[in-house]
Amino acid sequence: MAGRIILIIGGGIAAYKALELIRLLRKRDVAVECVLTDSATHFVTPLSVQALSGAPVHTTLLSLAEDSQMDHIALSRSADLLVVCPATANLMARMANGLADDLATTLLLATDTPVLIAPAMNVRMWKHPATQENYRRLRERGCDFVGPEDGEMACGEFGPGRLSAPETIVEAIESALSPHKPLTGRHVLITAGPTHEPIDPVRFIANHSSGKQGYAIAEACAALGAQVTLVSGPTALPCPKGVTLVPVLTASDMMAACEKALPADCVICAAAVGDWRVAQSSEQKRKKQPGETVSLALVENPDILATLSRPGPHRASLVIGFAAETESLEQHAKAKLARKGCDWLLANDVGGESAVFGGDRNRILFLNGETVETWPDMPKAEVASLLATRLAAHFSSTSR
Ligand SMILES: Cc1cc2nc3c(=O)[nH]c(=O)nc-3n(C[C@H](O)[C@H](O)[C@H](O)COP(=O)(O)O)c2cc1C
Repeated sequence: MAGRIILIIGGGIAAYKALELIRLLRKRDVAVECVLTDSATHFVTPLSVQALSGAPVHTTLLSLAEDSQMDHIALSRSADLLVVCPATANLMARMANGLADDLATTLLLATDTPVLIAPAMNVRMWKHPATQENYRRLRERGCDFVGPEDGEMACGEFGPGRLSAPETIVEAIESALSPHKPLTGRHVLITAGPTHEPIDPVRFIANHSSGKQGYAIAEACAALGAQVTLVSGPTALPCPKGVTLVPVLTASDMMAACEKALPADCVICAAAVGDWRVAQSSEQKRKKQPGETVSLALVENPDILATLSRPGPHRASLVIGFAAETESLEQHAKAKLARKGCDWLLANDVGGESAVFGGDRNRILFLNGETVETWPDMPKAEVASLLATRLAAHFSSTSR
């Protein structure tokens, strides 16, 4: 891997891991020039960074003007990629708000070079709505993220916020510098999220799906070059980079949006589609009558997976379903694969304490009609990239 990156080191406890990152990158012939925030210099010394990177280290706008012949604009554009590692909560907040109050943030504002961010912070800082809002804004603006991971933190707490391993960050840098796009030219249609089936204008029937798995798959397929249409029920998630989002509310809307989005090379039905809708949802808010027992007549919704699996001129060459089960996983998954007529099925146990709905991890039973594989418990993002890699392998072995 060749290339040139600017590594911006923020002032967090994980800053020492940036030293290992520099070492790994240098071994791979990547030229690394580093910028340290003022706080970062309290965690690692510019001397160590300079010795490992073999390049001048920049700390302030002023020192840049004095020490090198390069100004901040030229520096920001001299690289193929800007990497922020570790990105502290404060640095992410400054970036999200467009501040340019030091060299690091001025560079980040003055560039149109791709940016990869590796956050590292205490779990509460990461989960704070302000940080989550900053994360969402940065992603929407096209920044790529690697991590953070779940795990034990330097402060002794446990949860998301841990810096990804330097090797994982190197991989992310590698794919940003020389993107491998085996799904280029393929259209992948993905459904995600729950559906909302109205009872009246203010009430609806829904389920616990967060949409996280479907959105992660959309992002992973787009990263491999696919043209991705994501038909999604209501979720709190930002649209993944490079993905066309079609927001819908009900199962019927989702069915119509999918049919409109066809043809596709691959369809992945990850949405938790409501099986039923209220036969007659009322136009006005239903009034409560004291003591009244209310019954709702429900009618079946369209079966999106079965419909899109049906043979026909527009059937995608690969149709993949998800099965959310609470018992007898393998038995129900095999039956669903046969009943729906799809090609592959990913079954997950959403019952009891599995925390799959809304959680960040998943445990998949993968069926392709011939074999059944148990994938180990892993982050939903990893399930997504494993599935996207399988798609790429499938399409590379089948002619168009
Ligand atoms: C010992 C220590 C460890 C810290 N670790 C982190 C951290 O891991 N992540 C983080 O977001 N902030 C951390 N902070 C707080 C940041 O140093 C602080 O918010 C600082 O302003 C960040 O500066 P920056 O914007 O230059 O990164 C830590 C502070 C101290 C004193």
